[in-house]
Amino acid sequence: MSQQDDSSQEQPINGPGNEGGESPEVEAAEENVGVASELASELEAEDETAAAGAAVINEPPPSEGSEFVAEDGAVLFRDFVLPGVHPGDNDPYKWHTGKKDDTGGTPAIEIKDVVKQFGRARILNGLSLDLPDDQISMVLGPSGTGKSVLIKHIVGLLYPDSGDVIVKGDSVPDLSDDDLFDMRKKFGLLFQDGALFGSMNIFDNVAFPLRQHTDKAEAEIEDICAQRLSEVGLGEAHYKMPNELSGGMRKRAGFARALVLDPEIVMFDEPDSGLDPVRTALLCELIKEVHAESGGCYLVISHDLGTARRIADFIAVLWKGKIVESGPKERLFESENEFVHQFLRADVTGPLAMD
Ligand SMILES: Nc1ncnc2c1ncn2[C@@H]1O[C@H](COP(=O)(O)OP(=O)(O)OP(=O)(O)O)[C@@H](O)[C@H]1O
Ligand SMILES: [Mg+2]
Repeated sequence: MSQQDDSSQEQPINGPGNEGGESPEVEAAEENVGVASELASELEAEDETAAAGAAVINEPPPSEGSEFVAEDGAVLFRDFVLPGVHPGDNDPYKWHTGKKDDTGGTPAIEIKDVVKQFGRARILNGLSLDLPDDQISMVLGPSGTGKSVLIKHIVGLLYPDSGDVIVKGDSVPDLSDDDLFDMRKKFGLLFQDGALFGSMNIFDNVAFPLRQHTDKAEAEIEDICAQRLSEVGLGEAHYKMPNELSGGMRKRAGFARALVLDPEIVMFDEPDSGLDPVRTALLCELIKEVHAESGGCYLVISHDLGTARRIADFIAVLWKGKIVESGPKERLFESENEFVHQFLRADVTGPLAMD
């Protein structure tokens, strides 16, 4: 099986004017990637500990012929490992029996049989998922299952080893750098901490994508930013610096910035982490309100079941590199699939254990 190659490196966000990688946009993107990689190495260390724990149990390897063979012919534990799957488990997908609903229309995002491996760790193992347009979708799953990795494939920060990611009809891995740069204008992205530029005030942060990507006159930019900032309740905070704001305000400012280009697709990676329950509920309301007004495909990654109940129209549950079940929220919360049932009820008994 192929070992880590160039395609497993995260791609820099580059574009006209950014070639030197010195612009604040690139710095912010790098900050995001930096946060993600810090998290990634922590998670990797956890995975290694789990793997070491499993090795102590010293279960016999599955006998020849009974091992799990992936669709591409690679053999589990010989060619790759799946985080969360222990030696001896030759049926890792016994719980992945849930219904996978189609979106009932042309999907905004199609993920087709995506395989992504870092070294021997296969994070996505033939993942297929369609995300509906004009709805709020959520991808839920245990920590370290590849939710952030999935988002990075959609924006072209990571490329699949095999499979395809199609956004509004375009195959992301096939796009040239220029086309990828143009496609990213369709996206609004909100990372965990809002990822604001520390050296700019809130107004300039929100105006940045408009100044960078459009020819709009400064007066029009001012109107758009003032409107977006007042929508997120920051009408009075134009001249504040990011470090003068609370975590919740920074997230709202990040949300305003994600919206200024009227994106067709908005993605939030854990918008509610670090917020108190009331602020989480308020941010959910805001996401719902703005979506009701502007429409588009929203994808929210979160661990918070309250957030899922409040804002999701469509839910997909990811585990061991594949979707366990996907469909309308109401159906998922009533699911009889043992894993989905456990996960959406935060139940301590079920297929998912601490190790
Ligand atoms: N650039 C990378 N290089 C190597 N391994 C990586 C990289 N990015 C992610 N990983 C690994 O992929 C796995 C999934 O990471 P990811 O950040 O997508 O998890 P997650 O589902 O978002 O978790 P959480 O819910 O904790 O945010 C982790 O084991 C991580 O170590
Ligand atoms: Mg994540």
